Amino acid sequence: MNWDKRYKQNDKPWDKGAATPVLCELLNIAPQYFHPNTTALVLGCGLGHDVAILHAAGMVTTGLDISETALQMAREAYPDLGETWLMDDLFNMNSNETHYDLIWEHTCYCAIPPKKRQDYVNSVFSLLKPGAYFIGVFFTDTGQPPQVGPPFSTTRDQVFHNFAKKFQLVWEGKPSQCYPGRENREWVMIWRKP
Ligand SMILES: C[S@@+](CC[C@H](N)C(=O)[O-])C[C@H]1O[C@@H](n2cnc3c(N)ncnc32)[C@H](O)[C@@H]1O
Repeated sequence: MNWDKRYKQNDKPWDKGAATPVLCELLNIAPQYFHPNTTALVLGCGLGHDVAILHAAGMVTTGLDISETALQMAREAYPDLGETWLMDDLFNMNSNETHYDLIWEHTCYCAIPPKKRQDYVNSVFSLLKPGAYFIGVFFTDTGQPPQVGPPFSTTRDQVFHNFAKKFQLVWEGKPSQCYPGRENREWVMIWRKP
């Protein structure tokens, strides 16, 4: 998938123009994961709505995306955030010296080919501090067969299988908030790096 081309053509049906509703909810009901002045990384941040809301919550937040066009759109949408944007491939960031207190995921895991999911887990692991958290909203029902995508659907058990090799599961459940049309199609998991 050429993500940059999709953004250049303004072909971005995933972008809803606002932060992920479940993130807004978690910031209210589970603030213990979102401490002000700690660091957060948003994987595949697109236009940066989730970056902006984490920044507003006081976190020192970085938005990572492989598409420079997406990040340019994010800069224009959120000019007050400054240079919180990082253009890179999440699979090639092992040389990155920064380790984060929190990684937030929404619709990036489903964007990558299923065969790269364990690589994704390894990248997340290497980017977090010990004791830090990864919070992900996983697309369990894209309406397409699992081999068709992006977005590629997954199951709760597949995500568990991949992450449990390296992380401890802290919490999981069905989100009570979502974008319209995503009802009963997503699953939230909070994982801790030992
Ligand atoms: C479906 S979009 C979701 C964007 C954003 N999370 C949202 O909900 O609007 C997936 C995003 O992941 C980015 N992406 C895909 N592969 C990536 C990679 N290997 N490294 C970093 N970003 C990647 C794409 O450029 C795209 O912005």
